[in-house]
Amino acid sequence: MKGVILAGGLGSRLRPLTNITNKHLLPVYDRPMIFYPIETLAEAGIRDVMLVTGGGSAGDFLRLLGDGSQFGLTTLNYAYQVKEGGIAQAIGLTRAFVGHDRFVVMLGDNLIQRSIRPYVEAFAAQESGARILLKEVPNPRDYGVAEVRDGKVVSIEEKPAEPRSSLAVIGLYMYDSAAFEYIDTLKPSGRGELEVTDLNNAYLAAGRLYADILEGWWSDAGSSIDGYLETNIKAARMRRSGGAG
Ligand code: G1P
Repeated sequence: MKGVILAGGLGSRLRPLTNITNKHLLPVYDRPMIFYPIETLAEAGIRDVMLVTGGGSAGDFLRLLGDGSQFGLTTLNYAYQVKEGGIAQAIGLTRAFVGHDRFVVMLGDNLIQRSIRPYVEAFAAQESGARILLKEVPNPRDYGVAEVRDGKVVSIEEKPAEPRSSLAVIGLYMYDSAAFEYIDTLKPSGRGELEVTDLNNAYLAAGRLYADILEGWWSDAGSSIDGYLETNIKAARMRRSGGAG
């Protein structure tokens, strides 16, 4: 199982904090934001990770993270996204790294309280396809939203004006290598990006998408300045209490 962490984008929702640096290098409590997703993957036993970033601060990730051995990784690889082409486009850049393996993608601004190991194991046990994680939120309009019927996802909409549920699709996705063929078929959305929601919908249409409800909290540090503050508070509680907070 390979790991992919996405750390590109302009961070426009956190300006002016992101005027001169990449969002994922900002502090969350006592460490850089990007440490959290790397630790989440490493804790789940994922040892080969590729980080996708872009923009003027790309070199800072190398200085900060080096070869990944400080996190117990075997290899830490880097890819450069030239333009903000969307999450699915960034995933497409990892094709040669992933090869025919399966992989777990985590957004670099997402924090997950508990171990993701049970979900990764469930994914490893499924024959093929993709697996996503859902979490009930008060503000579904800010996220990809899943409609679930009889325990099955029947639709996913990206930031809908009228959400069909309060279940957000969190920024942790598990795919087989068919993802790259699906990405090749995607068309840019209204905002000119290849959307991860369209990739997940391609799996859904093929009857190859599975979902779990996440236990424990999840926080998107990059969604808004208030989301960033809230994530810092949650991270502080978690780190002070050794994981439980
Ligand atoms: C992205 C995805 C969205 C997902 C969210 C999770 O949104 O497009 O479907 O729910 O991450 O953090 P972004 O926050 O990049 O706009």
